[in-house]
Amino acid sequence: MSTRSTISKKAAIAEPDASARKRMTVPGFTARKGGAPLICLTSYTAHVAKICDEVCDLLLVGDSLGMVIHGMPNTLGVTLEHMIMHGQAVMRGADKALVVVDMPFGSFEESPEIAFRNAARVIKETGAHAIKLEGGTEMAPTIRHLTRRGIPVMAHIGLMPQAMNTAGGFKAVRSPEQFDAVAADGQAVAEAGAFSVVVEGVAPALAKRLTEELPIPTIGIGASADCDGQILVFEDMVGLLPRVPTFVKRYGTMEEMMRAAVAQYAEEVAERRFPAEEHTYKVKD
Ligand code: KIV
Repeated sequence: MSTRSTISKKAAIAEPDASARKRMTVPGFTARKGGAPLICLTSYTAHVAKICDEVCDLLLVGDSLGMVIHGMPNTLGVTLEHMIMHGQAVMRGADKALVVVDMPFGSFEESPEIAFRNAARVIKETGAHAIKLEGGTEMAPTIRHLTRRGIPVMAHIGLMPQAMNTAGGFKAVRSPEQFDAVAADGQAVAEAGAFSVVVEGVAPALAKRLTEELPIPTIGIGASADCDGQILVFEDMVGLLPRVPTFVKRYGTMEEMMRAAVAQYAEEVAERRFPAEEHTYKVKD
């Protein structure tokens, strides 16, 4: 008898398989601070969400969708309607991961009240569990306002793509003289009640410092393996986008696979080799 078949039925039932994984919650996510690394990816569509949901603790419907899906030059043109439509799609595909929707530029900065109105709309219309917003100390009052009114907030500090015009581009935080200000941003968003914080484009020493100093999980992108978790843009990670920033590791070659498939399809159509007989409907008697 194999070892496998000697495992009693009771033991087999007691061991939960991946499909029995419970949906990640906001408190559950925060409780992972300092524990096993938190696995996060962006998703913008139901099918991709379903794939990522199998392994991810958190799926972010990031405003990077403006560039990745809609071909915009940056994230500034993304609207609340874009975020809601993609948030709904991701919620249809994911049933295990915590789903967080980004607040687009212009939807939350004006006042905590406007931020609440727009964030509540995102939560109501998508069913997502939390929102993310960019900003440090200056956004702490807004984060406090939202979290005290039932809207969990993931903060985002360091390189903030929505601030590209004031920063003069996508500028990583690399000079030690900038570190204290970002550390103060981290303290401010954590004290205001953020359940986690994305740390983007910062030198590894700063990411490590933030991870050690903050009581909430730090989720790094272009930061350091010392963070409590990592996030990447799905399309970057699977090799679908031609630009490969320093912080991206390509785990796949989707662009090449898609180009090859499209080229073969075009060839077979041109030569009338597609559709073959097995792709056609038989006449019913
Ligand atoms: O919009 C996005 O995809 C993001 C991640 C890069 C963290 O904010």
